[in-house]
Amino acid sequence: MNHKQALKHNIFKYITQSAEELQVESYVIGGFVRDYLLERGDAKDIDVVAVGSGIELAKQVAKNLPNQPKVQVFKTYGTAMLRYEDIEIEFVGARKESYNEDSRNPIVENGTLKDDQNRRDLTINALAISLNQNNFGELLDPFNGLSDLDKGIIRTPLNPDITYSDDPLRMMRAIRFATQLNFKIEATSFKAITDNKERIKIITKERIVVELHKILESKTPSIGFILLEQTGLLDYILPELTALKGIDEIEGQRHKDNFYHTLEVVDNIAKTTDNLWLRWAALLHDIGKAPTKKFQKKVGWTFHAHEFVGSKMVYKLFKRLKMPLNDKMKFVQKMVFMSSRPIVLATDVTDAAVRRLVFDAGDYVDDLMTLCEADITTKNPKKFKKYHNNFQKVRAKIIEVEERDQVRNFQPPVTGEEIMETFNLKPSREIGIIKEAIKEAILEGEIPNEHEAAFELMLKKGKDLGLEVRS
Ligand code: CTP
Repeated sequence: MNHKQALKHNIFKYITQSAEELQVESYVIGGFVRDYLLERGDAKDIDVVAVGSGIELAKQVAKNLPNQPKVQVFKTYGTAMLRYEDIEIEFVGARKESYNEDSRNPIVENGTLKDDQNRRDLTINALAISLNQNNFGELLDPFNGLSDLDKGIIRTPLNPDITYSDDPLRMMRAIRFATQLNFKIEATSFKAITDNKERIKIITKERIVVELHKILESKTPSIGFILLEQTGLLDYILPELTALKGIDEIEGQRHKDNFYHTLEVVDNIAKTTDNLWLRWAALLHDIGKAPTKKFQKKVGWTFHAHEFVGSKMVYKLFKRLKMPLNDKMKFVQKMVFMSSRPIVLATDVTDAAVRRLVFDAGDYVDDLMTLCEADITTKNPKKFKKYHNNFQKVRAKIIEVEERDQVRNFQPPVTGEEIMETFNLKPSREIGIIKEAIKEAILEGEIPNEHEAAFELMLKKGKDLGLEVRS
């Protein structure tokens, strides 16, 4: 079968023409071909292999293109990149590669197309389509990548021990593709990943995080986390999660397996939101349970203050993985810290409690509700229904309370300056006491969130404190 239709974009004509002028063969390879065959839509990243110099080919293409774009050359890798319209094309010369034990820097020699396909990570990523005039559109598939795509198999072109050891990031890529595509990792690959897991240590945190994000962004992220756990990789990457594994039993009392519970929560949340950071929050919401777990006679298993401990662990985890320590991290921390709050409301919904929730969660209150709904993993259908119904009530009440009391991003209706002015005060303890009393009264519903009522309460509290109004 010919695959000319994959090459409809006019960029391919320019590449064919330029390769002919230089008398080199050229092929499109990798993700573009894979995603075309999977009908995943037209990829915007195109990888081109030249049997010869990739850099020369890139320069020739740039010369022929109407807008003559700039060519970015990466000498150390022997690659070159250019942009045309909305796509990015990377050129590389076909090569044979082998790697040193402890570095990612390969020893590179020129090779044939087949050599180049051989050195790639997975058979489904080693498929190439010819851009040469004599066989334009022909699929070159020496490792049965097409059949693996059909059957849903993750397999390496070479002995998997070599492929994964050469570039250990590929272990994560294999698991990531298995998750995104819902493919199975073939047995020898699985074993090779298990055998080489320790080599993940030589991979930079940033590259690992890219793969973790892609797993989390998948439809069913648990597939990836279970594979990471089964191969032993998770211990090196997120030991906070493997620490949640297992069920203990003392005096006939058991707690749930918080690892598998967490994965259920992540899959649940993946059904309702694309927000990557909320998915992170779901993944980490229970990490404080491992260090806080205790068995107490009479009470049973407790995880006292696990939300607080967990939110502190989020910072360390983000730091270790070189993830941003910015508002995204703070958001995840806040979600973890507040993750049990709405649960209390699920049994007894009062106005005051809802106002406090909105006050404390601010703009994140909807995300927090989404997280808590995903956290309902009970297998008891009656309870499942009851909790969901109650959360519906909480959501309705949030809207009601918000319209009436406006405590989201709460601004005190009486300012510190006004208090100082009224009682002729310098900055002092009393101001804080009065402000706190006003806030509490509003949250408890004793007074409305309005200036007049707050001012009155201020006068009363001032009097109680023995303050005199400035005459
Ligand atoms: N590749 C590889 N080993 C790696 C990374 C990439 O062999 N560690 C090869 C694969 O043939 C891959 C191609 O380089 O298809 C391009 O890599 P990249 O652009 O990173 O990924 P894609 O496969 O295109 O997929 P995605 O965009 O989903 O990451």
